Amino acid sequence: TKFRTSKPTQIPGLCFRTFNTSPQNNFHVAVLGASGGIGQPLGMLLKVNRLISKLTLYDLQHTMGVAADLSHIETPAKVKGFVGKDKLCEAIECANIVVIPAGLPRKPGMTRDDLFNKNASVVRDLVACVADTAPKALIGIITNPINAVIPIACEVLKKKCKLDPRRVFGITTLDIVRANTFVASLSGVSPLEVNVPVIGGHSPETIIPVFSRATPGVKVSEDKVKTLTKRIKEAGTEVVKAKAGTGSATLSMAYAAARFTNSLLRGLAGEKNVVESSYVQSDVVCDISYFATPLVVKAKAGTGSATLSMAYAAARFTNSLLRGLAGEKDVIEPSYVQSDVACGINYFASPLVLGKNGIEKNLGIGKLNKFEEELLKKAIPVLKKNIATGVKFVSK
Ligand code: NAI
Repeated sequence: TKFRTSKPTQIPGLCFRTFNTSPQNNFHVAVLGASGGIGQPLGMLLKVNRLISKLTLYDLQHTMGVAADLSHIETPAKVKGFVGKDKLCEAIECANIVVIPAGLPRKPGMTRDDLFNKNASVVRDLVACVADTAPKALIGIITNPINAVIPIACEVLKKKCKLDPRRVFGITTLDIVRANTFVASLSGVSPLEVNVPVIGGHSPETIIPVFSRATPGVKVSEDKVKTLTKRIKEAGTEVVKAKAGTGSATLSMAYAAARFTNSLLRGLAGEKNVVESSYVQSDVVCDISYFATPLVVKAKAGTGSATLSMAYAAARFTNSLLRGLAGEKDVIEPSYVQSDVACGINYFASPLVLGKNGIEKNLGIGKLNKFEEELLKKAIPVLKKNIATGVKFVSK
């Protein structure tokens, strides 16, 4: 499969009054955590989205002011604010999409995992209410650590017999937005044209930019790929440092979440071939067979591959098998075997085709080059641990 994208050529769904020629659609979007650094600019971008007729804003504080302010913008979406826990379910009722930026952001020196203790229960409680009040809603979660909180959301829904994995999304769009921006500035192509797939998860060890499949045919030298990959993996920290204790990415994140929500809306509205990547429940990693040892073919220039060293290796391996058969303990020998190492990974970010029920098709990992395969190998144990942490939190 070739990666395709639904990247809009303008600000997602933007409808200033004079430009609004398409018919109004009647979708209801709820934002939970709407008064925060991300919540406020996200609310504004959603207020000017032509596919939204109702926008409900929920937070523990300040929501009425944010709602009053946004309600004066001359676009059709009706805005309503809800403040305090007892108003949560009312805010969510009948929503088509629930977007969640509620929770603590990072401060300098913190990793996303450091946020787990605070944010795990926030996501658990908010998603429990979505399950009860709007079980058909598409849920887009921004709250970190994404790698662990999406499993929390799915486990909560599963416990309530409301899990439909096609409807739960970890919003990783900012990694793609950053990759596009950085590559565009390097290659001179307009950022509106560039599309770099980013797969895996949302932390330095698990973000995997796939430059080998960037479009339109962007050529980035091997050296630059390494530098760019590092920058994309650590771009969140770049912002945390620059904000010097006042928060993490909020404006670029609001843009990314608005782009993602717009893609969900376009899918709901029946548009075909809407593609957007996201961290979702999926078994795409289970299909990989990247763990085979590379073969030495080139060294003998046409007369065959390694024979003598291979004979030695096979003899060593056979000897280890024999030692095991003979009953020797702790005989360790690496081998490429049928294994479920990767199968613990039932969450992964990859490109998805979106439709009326959320995910219509997962386009999977696609072909990777050697460098990208290495990144994937390194990401797998980290993802596995993050997922297990999330699942365990709900089963406690
Ligand atoms: P913020 O602190 O400015 O805003 C968070 C808002 O959530 C606050 O208004 C707070 O009152 C509200 N909140 C907290 N607990 C709540 C609850 N139980 N119910 C309703 N509202 C609640 O934080 P900011 O900068 O908006 O970040 C929000 C989250 O987004 C953080 O966890 C951050 O790490 C994450 N993030 C994710 C990114 C991604 O790529 N997915 C990128 C940047 C940030």
